[in-house]
Amino acid sequence: MILTIIGARPQFVKAAVVSKALKEIGIEEEIIHTGQHYDDKMSSVFWDELNIPKPVINLNIGSGNHGFQTAKMIEQIETFILNSKNKIKAILLYGDTNSTLAGAIVAPKLHIPVIHIEAGLRSFNNKMPEEINRIITDRVSDLLFCSSEKSVLQLKSEGIIQNVYNVGDVMYDAFINFGEIAKAKIKLSDIHKFKKNEYNILTLHRPSNTDENDVLQQIISVFEKINKPTIFPVHPRVSRKIKKMNISDNLKLISPLSYFEMLILLQNANKIFTDSGGLQKEAYWANKDCITIREETEWIETLENDFNILTGNNSDRIIDAYYKKNIKQRTNLYGDGKASEKIVKIIKQKYFYD
Ligand code: UD1
Repeated sequence: MILTIIGARPQFVKAAVVSKALKEIGIEEEIIHTGQHYDDKMSSVFWDELNIPKPVINLNIGSGNHGFQTAKMIEQIETFILNSKNKIKAILLYGDTNSTLAGAIVAPKLHIPVIHIEAGLRSFNNKMPEEINRIITDRVSDLLFCSSEKSVLQLKSEGIIQNVYNVGDVMYDAFINFGEIAKAKIKLSDIHKFKKNEYNILTLHRPSNTDENDVLQQIISVFEKINKPTIFPVHPRVSRKIKKMNISDNLKLISPLSYFEMLILLQNANKIFTDSGGLQKEAYWANKDCITIREETEWIETLENDFNILTGNNSDRIIDAYYKKNIKQRTNLYGDGKASEKIVKIIKQKYFYD
């Protein structure tokens, strides 16, 4: 049996496609939901919509400082594994959240191999909690699946060369597979009143952009100078803070969206402003220009031809990037949309050969 540990929104999307592929190839899986994300709109909506197999347990960890949150996860994941009656062949981890890190600390000490999907990504900014989570997870992983060749080379430069595979990005699998289903189920008018290409999207949740009021206010103020309305599905982290701020009429705040709603919003948008990792790639696949409100990105391939422009939180840089014209042809980054198929084949060969 494979034991998967997930807990935050982007992990639900990735697990949806890999869990399906595991089932199709005949590998048994159990899922632990750490409960890092717990609001309905951050969690259960995704499980229902994406048909993710029910978790064997929800640890209901919730929010807290990083040490506190991760420590609670470590303790409970360890207890779960020690009491498990099934033979766990490997632990499956995704990305770079505190839920990923918790699994990476517990499993090796119980001598259970670690599989890491989205390995080898680096922002080279150790102030991001995600960077610490990635480095530690990769270091203890036994099987590493990368989204691109650059990630493979990064791991190589850190001395990690065995059992590293470039399979492409599982989020591309999800983007392709769920894109059509979303179109059939949801109309743009179910989400807001604007027409195709007549609005932009903003998402913002990184602590570096949202923890300090001045920084957040500066970013929010930019949207007065943008020539189209911008739809902003607000992460709960930001929602509480933003209520006290001056918000331009041009910025339309809405609740967090489901994955299908987000795909529809994206497919019809003009341009994307974001500090999320996943949305930078999704913008690329949807053929939309992306303005990334960060000083660096792990998804460096998207910077090619200015498809994605880094602006930090400086207003002028954000506005300049928005008005830049960009009509260049895109290539196929991050694989062919069959990453999950490749991943489960390799998992089967390695851990289920008998
Ligand atoms: C986490 C991940 C980040 C990922 C993001 C996706 C870490 C370190 N970060 O960031 O890499 O891109 O998820 O969304 O794991 N909150 C709620 N309800 C929820 C979830 C969160 O109110 O359901 C609020 C709480 O105030 C909480 C804050 O959001 O303290 C931060 O949540 P947390 O999961 O710690 O980090 P994210 O910012 O969501």
